[in-house]
Amino acid sequence: MARRQRRRRLPAEPITIDIHDLSHDGRGVGRHEDKVVFVHSALPEERVHARLTGRNRRFDDALTLAVDVSSPDRVEPECPWFGNCGGCALQHLQHPAQLKWKQSRLEENFRRIGQVKPNEWLAPIQADPWHYRRRARLSARLVQGKGRVLVGFREIGGRYVADIERCSILDRFFSDRLMSLSDLIGSLSIPDRIAQIECAAGDHSAAIVIRHLEPLTDEDHQRLIEWSSAQSIDGQPLGIYLQPKGPDSVHLLTPETHELSYHLERYQLDLKFHPQHFIQINSEVNQQLIDAALTLLELDSNDRVLDLFCGLGNFSLPIARRAAHVVGVELESALVDAARDNAVRNELNNAEFVSADLTAASDSLDFMNTPYDAVLIDPPRSGAAEILPLIAASNAPRVVYVSCDPATLARDAGTLVQQHGYTLESAGIADMFPHTAHVESLALFTKP
Ligand SMILES: C[S@@+](CC[C@H](N)C(=O)[O-])C[C@H]1O[C@@H](n2cnc3c(N)ncnc32)[C@H](O)[C@@H]1O
Repeated sequence: MARRQRRRRLPAEPITIDIHDLSHDGRGVGRHEDKVVFVHSALPEERVHARLTGRNRRFDDALTLAVDVSSPDRVEPECPWFGNCGGCALQHLQHPAQLKWKQSRLEENFRRIGQVKPNEWLAPIQADPWHYRRRARLSARLVQGKGRVLVGFREIGGRYVADIERCSILDRFFSDRLMSLSDLIGSLSIPDRIAQIECAAGDHSAAIVIRHLEPLTDEDHQRLIEWSSAQSIDGQPLGIYLQPKGPDSVHLLTPETHELSYHLERYQLDLKFHPQHFIQINSEVNQQLIDAALTLLELDSNDRVLDLFCGLGNFSLPIARRAAHVVGVELESALVDAARDNAVRNELNNAEFVSADLTAASDSLDFMNTPYDAVLIDPPRSGAAEILPLIAASNAPRVVYVSCDPATLARDAGTLVQQHGYTLESAGIADMFPHTAHVESLALFTKP
């Protein structure tokens, strides 16, 4: 039945629809002919004309064509490609209202999923909402009809690469070079065999990783080398890495050596990273998030602290500056190595890093056998359910949870409060991904 419906042609006639809510991915929600419709670029309190773009058994998808009755929170999107490019979902909603919506999502998830409520709401952490994205995976596609290689985010719906010339959320260095990158890829011998370009910007350097599906020629290499030396930040040429196969095949093409790093001013730390490493995407918000997390942990110089899902030491090393000892735990051995290197680079000898799978059997996690004064966790979207019993068993009086998914944070908050006797003391959002529907948040759990 569902398949038959999907095959059925979508009506060409626009529908008129009243929007009453925003979905978790930032689409307006309305009803048409008794069916829920998710409408891109529409806001609550609006009446819009929309074109149906997809039909499912329980809901339809649509795209706003014109706004009949406009929300007081609607603003003109900064980006001319908004509504087509899938890189942003909320540019049409004024920025303070985006923050309000993100906090209400966190509140609602706490209530619905975790049945918890923080004693106190923290002020949202925020910074300049434009050109914040220092890491991005861009798609590349040679489109004959356009006569060029498109380099950018996927369009809404995900099938095509958006035809954009610059990007209001991408780091300025890359935004300004999108067209030049497109020309560069178009000039290679295999412009149709370049699948994606990963971009990473440090404070004083930048790099790209080009995923190519067939070998590049010597002439291609030469072109890339010339292009790299023409694009420099602070005198450092852009690093170009090539990826002919899986992630392990990534290697530096040019210059001979290249380094990416970011500085955490307040902690006098310089953290080195590789373009494929996980880093927090928004430099300014990251710095404030670290400050907020460390304030909530109430560290003193005698404390032993555990930092779970520690990556390359983004929280562990600032903690090491304030506490007696920190143990950082991370699954990816490349990140554990980077964290250890970063500790040495910053002359810290009170930070220890362990490689472990925090979803695995708990008895293999030796580092959990000692007590901690405070614990920080910053898990991936799936949350930290498996490790919560061990955190609780450690009796840490303060647990700060940094999260990129309010649903799993709410679930884990419910477990910490209802099963392990913690109190949800405070919580708030961090505007890590302005103009998108992603919600970053942090929460403090305490136990006497
Ligand atoms: C949201 S990132 C946070 C990284 C770091 N705290 C930071 O601020 O840069 C989540 C981290 O958890 C790691 N991770 C994912 N699954 C894991 C697992 N099962 N066990 C341990 N670490 C894991 C990822 O490799 C990633 O570095």
